[in-house]
Order: sequence, then structure tokens, then C-alpha cells
Amino acid sequence: MELYDVMRTTFSAREFTADPVPDSVLVTILDNARFAPSGGNRQGWKVVVVREQKTKDELARLSGIAAKRYAAQAANGESPWNTIDPPRVDAATIEKTQAPARLTEPISKAPVVLVLCVDLKVVASIDQDLKRVGVISGASIYPFAWNVLMGARHEGYGGTITTLATAQEPKIQELLGLPAHVAVCAVMPLGRPVQRLTRLKRKPVGDFAMRERWGGPPLA
Ligand SMILES: Cc1cc2nc3c(=O)[nH]c(=O)nc-3n(C[C@H](O)[C@H](O)[C@H](O)COP(=O)(O)O)c2cc1C
Repeated sequence: MELYDVMRTTFSAREFTADPVPDSVLVTILDNARFAPSGGNRQGWKVVVVREQKTKDELARLSGIAAKRYAAQAANGESPWNTIDPPRVDAATIEKTQAPARLTEPISKAPVVLVLCVDLKVVASIDQDLKRVGVISGASIYPFAWNVLMGARHEGYGGTITTLATAQEPKIQELLGLPAHVAVCAVMPLGRPVQRLTRLKRKPVGDFAMRERWGGPPLA
């Protein structure tokens, strides 16, 4: 496929056929994904390949916990889980909110789930002393995650970067036997998509690119 077509059509696949994803395909995908950039080329990614149903179900259940707050905030017109505006929904509202099936089921139903982790001992987290949530560490793992999705697309498969389960990171570390310095970055269901979406909704360039300074004329 032409590169721009791939970039414009690699959607988040959440519904999969019963087709298996053989280990050989996973190795091919990861063998290409590993050329992703990372800070200092330290390549701190680790991938746990989960096929056992019990483990997938537990990862889905753990995702459901954060999904309740996500859904409650979204229903209240908020940007869920952002660190700037405190949540305006209370604990009782979150508790009685149903976790949307689309945020949990793909994880239990996918033929394989990749748990993408990063070894924090090798990540240069340059923004660690700033008074805001860290974002730089993720830049050493999510290009890799995106490469996995593009590789999957190339092989006729698809998946989704999901992060809801990471709110329960200690439980995932226990479930999978991860050391404490290994962070969970994404729980990625993978499989053969039931349907291929090709018209993704994204804002136009002029909405987010500006000249010279914040609020400058849009780059259109
Ligand atoms: C950092 C990150 C976290 C995400 N977390 C979740 C998640 O927990 N569950 C989920 O279903 N999708 C998750 N997504 C997928 C987004 O919902 C998806 O990228 C977005 O809606 C665009 O979808 P599209 O490419 O199909 O248009 C996440 C994506 C990113 C990049």
C-alpha cells in the first residue's frame, strides 16, 4: 500500500473474526516494529503475548474499572481522565456507570492480546521534574506501538492501542509477573478485523497547526 493510504486508514479495530494470529505473523510484525525510534535508541519495549482466555478476561475486567469513570465523565461532557480539570462526577456516579462493552470486550474476544510494556530503567524521562503529568516517557514506546498496528495492517490484521487497564498497573504486574520498574503502556487486542474502516474522522491541519506562536495564523 501507498504510505499515505496506510496512515489515513489504519483504524482502531475492535471486532475480530475467529481467524488465529499465528506466532509467525506476530514475529514478522514485531521484527519490523522494532525499527521504531526511542529516546537514546534504548529500545526499552517488552511485549507479553497473551493467548490464555483467563488472562485476557482479567485484562478486560481491569480495563472495565477505568472505563466506568471514562464513560461517566464523557456522559457529563468532560474530557475523561484529563489531568487539568478535576472530574465533575462523584464516586457514586462512577460506580453505578456501566463500563461500555466496546471498551472491554475486544480484549477478551481477540484471538491474541499484546501487552506492551516499557522498562523505565532505560527511559530518559526528561520532563520528570515539571509540575505536570509526564508525557515524554511515552514517546519511547508509542511509536513502537503504532508500528505494531501498521505492521498488523500490512499483514491483514488490525488492533487497538488501549490504555484503560493501565490504571490498574500493579494488578497487571502481578498477573503477568512484571518487575516493578516495567510500566504497562498498552493492552492491544489483535486479530483479523470483521470490517475495514477507511474514512477516519480527524480535524483538519488548520485546526491544530499555527505559524510562529500559539494562536498564530493557521498553517492551512
Ligand atoms: C494513547 C491511546 C489510548 C487509547 N486507549 C484506548 C482504550 O483504552 N480503549 C479503546 O477502545 N481505545 C483506545 N484508544 C483508541 C482510540 O479510541 C482511537 O485511536 C481513536 O478513537 C481513533 O480511532 P480510529 O483510528 O478508529 O478513528 C486509545 C488510543 C490511544 C492513542
